[in-house]
Amino acid sequence: MWLTARAPTSHEGLLAIRKQKLYSARCEVSPPFRVLDVGTGSGSWAIDFANRYVEADVIGTDLSPMHPDEVPVNFTFRTDNYLKPWLFCNDQFNLIHMRFLFGTVSDWDALFREAYRCCRPGGWVETCELDFYFCSDDQSIRPWHAMRTKWPGFIDAAALSTGSTFRPVELNVQKEGMERAGFIRIRQRDFKIPIGSWTNKDSLDQCGAKFRDAFHDDIEGFTRFIWFSVLRRPDTDYGRFVEGMKRGIRNPKVHSYFKARYVYGCKPPQMGE
Ligand SMILES: C[S@@+](CC[C@H](N)C(=O)[O-])C[C@H]1O[C@@H](n2cnc3c(N)ncnc32)[C@H](O)[C@@H]1O
Repeated sequence: MWLTARAPTSHEGLLAIRKQKLYSARCEVSPPFRVLDVGTGSGSWAIDFANRYVEADVIGTDLSPMHPDEVPVNFTFRTDNYLKPWLFCNDQFNLIHMRFLFGTVSDWDALFREAYRCCRPGGWVETCELDFYFCSDDQSIRPWHAMRTKWPGFIDAAALSTGSTFRPVELNVQKEGMERAGFIRIRQRDFKIPIGSWTNKDSLDQCGAKFRDAFHDDIEGFTRFIWFSVLRRPDTDYGRFVEGMKRGIRNPKVHSYFKARYVYGCKPPQMGE
């Protein structure tokens, strides 16, 4: 089974935290340059890439199209299930990007093997994941907050039912999967995604405000599917669960964040390259 519910994300929030950079992999975008964004969702990353690098040929894949009607001419959407062998032939892409696939992947090694197969020798794969559990360093998530009493049990149950972890950072699936697939020159960087603008640092607060709003406004879109279709929990408790979560997310005294990790690596170049 795969989860069709999308965790709320904010492309703009991530850009704020990353000084507007779309990727860190050591590649130069010069034609012909082919990019694949796996599990592209609304296409926010892929469309931004296509707009910034008009000479690049950008493909986004997902289970079904969710991108806007108007897209740059160098962006194409293809329907593809990333849990099965990918649509593409070997050695196709200069850069393969995957972001926030947590909670949907039962076999990370298989995912990175496909990425390796479809990446060109000398090309790069970059992945960003987060642990979908609220952390705080100052105990401001109180023991009675829904973020503590309800959310972890809900997410753990979802992980158990689907066989897909929501703790990819703690389990180090990205680096280990890439190493096992054969990537080299692997680098990783951890950062915190604040929920709310409580950090007193400009770029982090911008990011935090965007994630807080995305999460607050979209929490039902994400949890409803898991609550009713995956866990088959009763209707009666759902409203209280959502309201408790929204209260915590809105509360400026709660200094919560998600742990996130970027990892990138290179497919070894062919001899003589
Ligand atoms: C949390 S969203 C991330 C979207 C996008 N990567 C981003 O960072 O904004 C996860 C995406 O993966 C897609 N997805 C889930 N399972 C999939 C599968 N087996 N094959 C292809 N796409 C899948 C969902 O439809 C959703 O668009």
